[in-house]
Amino acid sequence: MPAPMRFDARYYRRFYGGPGKTHSASEIARLAAGVDGLAAWLGVELRSVLDVGAGTGLWRSWFRRHRPEVRYRSIEVSPYACERYGHELRDISRWRARERFDLVVCHSVLQYLDDAAAERALDNIGRMSRGLLYLEAVTRSDLPILDLDKSDTQIHVRSGAWYRSRLGRHFFQVGAGLWGSRRSPIQLFDLEGPGALESRR
Ligand SMILES: C[S@@+](CC[C@H](N)C(=O)[O-])C[C@H]1O[C@@H](n2cnc3c(N)ncnc32)[C@H](O)[C@@H]1O
Repeated sequence: MPAPMRFDARYYRRFYGGPGKTHSASEIARLAAGVDGLAAWLGVELRSVLDVGAGTGLWRSWFRRHRPEVRYRSIEVSPYACERYGHELRDISRWRARERFDLVVCHSVLQYLDDAAAERALDNIGRMSRGLLYLEAVTRSDLPILDLDKSDTQIHVRSGAWYRSRLGRHFFQVGAGLWGSRRSPIQLFDLEGPGALESRR
């Protein structure tokens, strides 16, 4: 018998519906607007976006409203979220598209995957990227500042070094959650981000 799906109606009600919600639409709107602005500043034209583990579709709402010309694909492992919010049913640890995207969003997803799956997911994301990745994943160092009332604590906690070494195969760090694909045209000035010198290789 297949295991019951953890990401069901109750999950989205608990973390996206009530007063204890993890991210509100207005918070994500501010973040998406910032990422869009930084992409323009860094010379990455956003024509296509892939949203990995898109949940209730908060990022997509912002893009639909403010960048309707962008081709937006959103994927989800949860059949409930696919049905309810309209995403493609895909497991990022086992799927990669043939195309490459100007922006990949992976917000609060990788901590739900075990080490082997998260490593495969990062590889898939890297291979589908040609511009920027926006990544947020909780690491061990974040635990003291995690708001336990709003956060799902049933997650795989790894070190930042674990993520950095896998991300480094495909990306250099820009900052503020952004990673530049090694295929991108981005060149950072020295003080713009920790991966400035790497971005010029
Ligand atoms: C905390 S929610 C984040 C939702 C959205 N990214 C956001 O920030 O609002 C985590 C989501 O990741 C999805 N997810 C977990 N494992 C996944 C996988 N292997 N492939 C695709 N999506 C996955 C879950 O179904 C869930 O909707």
